[in-house]
Amino acid sequence: MKIAIINGPNLNLLGAREPDQYGSQTFEAYYEKLQSKFTNINFTYYQSNIEGELINELQKVSNLVDAIVLNPAGYTHTSVAIGDTIAAIKAPVIEVHISNVHAREDFRKISHVSAKCKGTISGFGMKGYELAVRSFLLAE
Ligand code: DQA
Repeated sequence: MKIAIINGPNLNLLGAREPDQYGSQTFEAYYEKLQSKFTNINFTYYQSNIEGELINELQKVSNLVDAIVLNPAGYTHTSVAIGDTIAAIKAPVIEVHISNVHAREDFRKISHVSAKCKGTISGFGMKGYELAVRSFLLAE
């Protein structure tokens, strides 16, 4: 199975960025552990701070992978275009948020991507990425 993990803006700063919200682990350290847990999965990882680059990557990988785990970060709450991309591509997408977006500011309760995704995982810390991966492994 091939799974693409895509992270949006400021998630390159995980580890240093607001540790109370997002913990103190870098994504690179977490990603290494994730890969070692699922040696039969072929992972790819992409991060960008730029909306159009995230859209290009979603379009590109959608034909190459079985599933996508996406944390659109701040673009969750603003990007009609990323929502449109998820609706347009074939690969199933799970939306992940490290923090519980529903327990934070009101603007974070709005998502332009949730309705287009297979499901959303929010509030489980970095573990959310693993939960998303596991959900793809469970038989329907
Ligand atoms: C986030 C939540 C978003 O509201 C925020 O803009 C982020 C990270 C999360 O993973 O909890 O950058 O997507």
